[in-house]
Amino acid sequence: MTDANNYDRYAAMRQEALKMGESLPHRFVEKPAMKKLIPDLQGKRVLMLGCGTGEESVLLEEYGGKEMIGIDFSKESVRLANASYPTHNFTVGDMHSLAFNDNAFDFVYSSLTVHYSADPVVVYREVMRVLKPGGIFQFSVGHPMRWASERTTLEGRTVKLMGYTEGDEPPRLYGDFSSFREYEETFQSGETLKFWVGPPSMHFGLLRQTGFVVNDFIETKAVEEAKSVNENYYARFSRFPQFAIFVARKPE
Ligand SMILES: C[S@@+](CC[C@H](N)C(=O)[O-])C[C@H]1O[C@@H](n2cnc3c(N)ncnc32)[C@H](O)[C@@H]1O
Repeated sequence: MTDANNYDRYAAMRQEALKMGESLPHRFVEKPAMKKLIPDLQGKRVLMLGCGTGEESVLLEEYGGKEMIGIDFSKESVRLANASYPTHNFTVGDMHSLAFNDNAFDFVYSSLTVHYSADPVVVYREVMRVLKPGGIFQFSVGHPMRWASERTTLEGRTVKLMGYTEGDEPPRLYGDFSSFREYEETFQSGETLKFWVGPPSMHFGLLRQTGFVVNDFIETKAVEEAKSVNENYYARFSRFPQFAIFVARKPE
């Protein structure tokens, strides 16, 4: 049986990696891009959806977030979050069915969590319900350019390819940009994660179908600072997006 997405087991290790800046995607790609989009949170009610071990509360505090609420599926992540950031309130919960009243929050922040849903429109409907009119939903998900490419061998090297051969009947296809599919990856850290990735236009469509107005959309690029720490990582992810970020607003 696969032990994928065992966030209870990964929690302590993930917290340590985040605090030490060991996770390159967090440090140089996703968090810097998310940071640029966070609004002023002074006096706002904030929900962190899939808060993990709570490190994002430190980031949101920089923008004025106080006494924020976080929910996560993983009991151990929530326990560590409460122990580490006691001024906030972290509880176990499922993003598909939120235990909050309608119109309860001004801002919902979700970092790298929505892509665990096989049915993201259910999450979007729940977020729409708990947001106040005019409230903002900011979230990041995996980008198909990174995840939907195919790992193969070319000229004796392992490569990740997205494309097709020309001149073959039928063509040899590499990767699948346009489908919404589940992917599984075992990372260097030893974590095995299974998540769903589809084209950004799918998320646009589902957000609009739910009634959101999409205010912003980013395809991430590694920041310059990554170059001095890991040149190869910078070379890859300054040219190819690893994540897609959406900022959506509930109309007044
Ligand atoms: C990659 S971690 C991100 C944690 C944190 N947002 C961060 O950026 O450090 C994804 C988190 O989503 C949580 N998660 C997965 N499915 C969930 C669900 N249905 N409802 C709530 N949380 C979920 C996992 O337990 C995990 O903590």
